[in-house]
Amino acid sequence: MFKTIEWKNNGVVMLDQTRLPGRVVYRTFRDHKAVADAIKRLVVRGAPAIGVAAAMGVALGASKIKARDMKEFKKEFRKITRTMASSRPTAVNLFWAIDRMAKVVESSGNIDIPEIKKRLAEEAKKICDEDMEINRRIGKNGSRLIKNNSTVLTHCNAGALATAGYGTALGVIRGAVDAGKNVKVFADETRPVLQGARLTAWELKQDGIDVTLITDNMAGYMMKKGLVDCVVVGADRIAANGDVANKIGTYSVAVLAKAHRIPFYVAAPTSTIDINIKTGDEIPIEERSPDEVTGMGGTRIAPRGIKVMNPAFDVTPARLVSGIITEKGVVTAPYRSGIRRLFS
Ligand code: MRU
Repeated sequence: MFKTIEWKNNGVVMLDQTRLPGRVVYRTFRDHKAVADAIKRLVVRGAPAIGVAAAMGVALGASKIKARDMKEFKKEFRKITRTMASSRPTAVNLFWAIDRMAKVVESSGNIDIPEIKKRLAEEAKKICDEDMEINRRIGKNGSRLIKNNSTVLTHCNAGALATAGYGTALGVIRGAVDAGKNVKVFADETRPVLQGARLTAWELKQDGIDVTLITDNMAGYMMKKGLVDCVVVGADRIAANGDVANKIGTYSVAVLAKAHRIPFYVAAPTSTIDINIKTGDEIPIEERSPDEVTGMGGTRIAPRGIKVMNPAFDVTPARLVSGIITEKGVVTAPYRSGIRRLFS
């Protein structure tokens, strides 16, 4: 199995996802600004993987701080966390991971700066290792919801590439396959950046899981034909009421699933739940470059000067969600109390 991200010899090694599926290229990053830029450019993407990259970026930046005292160290450290926090706005895992790294510094007491730097690197590696373990648990919890001989539709890429490994939505599919079930997958291509076509199709094919690629506008047809048994997607941020922000197009899939009485599940670690946000209306939605819409694979597909909107995410209201699969169990409606219980 490929590695998405790794801390190696005081550098961050990432599989460059902008080059997939054509080329498998690993790149090593040695400074935090380059890591923030890699997050922005989708070299690494997917909420949990963004969190891991941010933590490693913070550790990398901190390792280079030349401060004579703790006050100066903290000032430089804050600059690093600000740079990292400005890379992408929607996936809450980014801010969650930065907060965890900041706590290492805050709780450092009287320990010296070299020791803090060491602990930061350890914390980043721990966040990475934990993510892998959490995804396996999500996979196990979710696999019970997947029937034998069924077909799952997924949107975007919530797989090993979007996490430290195994994946969340694809983790549920892997969990069901690992449990001996016969599972087929429809992967939405996921315009405009094609995470479904380029990444989900690639990683499931690598695993020998039966995957069929469809364009986004085919999902309704497949459902009407009775070819989809359930939908499983990931999430970038889940509000306290169960509203789910995920890749643009997820909301349309959820509406279609509801219309066809097909269960619509969201698989995500509890680090993706933002209990400080009451509803999905408060989730910041990233607006990305118009070039992603007007071009494809380096070819222009729209007239020059055309007006474009390119929100990278949408919000699916909790009422369309059949269950949220986490490492701590599956939460169903009413979500507000169910989510609160996860944190108590
Ligand atoms: O823009 P991306 O590729 O970072 O968007 C990724 C998604 O929307 C994923 O579905 C989500 O982050 C869950 S990843 C386990």
